[in-house]
Amino acid sequence: MTTQQLIDIAVEMKTQAYVPYSNFHVGAAILTEDGTVITGCNVENAAYGMCICAEQTAVVKAVSEGHKKFKAIAVAGDSDGPCLPCGACRQILSEFCGPDMPIACVGLDGKPEQFTLGELLAHSFKLER
Ligand code: THU
Repeated sequence: MTTQQLIDIAVEMKTQAYVPYSNFHVGAAILTEDGTVITGCNVENAAYGMCICAEQTAVVKAVSEGHKKFKAIAVAGDSDGPCLPCGACRQILSEFCGPDMPIACVGLDGKPEQFTLGELLAHSFKLER
């Protein structure tokens, strides 16, 4: 599975997005340690605060199916340039992924940009005493 293939799956997942309020489609594809690809899309709600991000959908689907180790994630959104994960999604990823986790982001221009989780979420919260 190449990064471009993962991006292509994330782009395809935008078609599943349920976005009657924002009309902003987001798709995600996360690659598990064993090579399985788990997808997600954003799912909105009339109570706006209940909207679920595409990355959250993918991570929750993956964990619920027994996957907790991930190699990469791709995020595709309706932004002009690369669609980056929001702060909440960065924190959710940090629960399962280390700072080297690659995050490929793409927008409507189709030009992907690669980051690591450590770049996007420095000094993440950890429940340590
Ligand atoms: N959204 C995501 O799916 N992922 C993010 O990382 C940021 C935002 C969704 C939530 C909402 O449905 C729409 O994009 C507009 O905020």
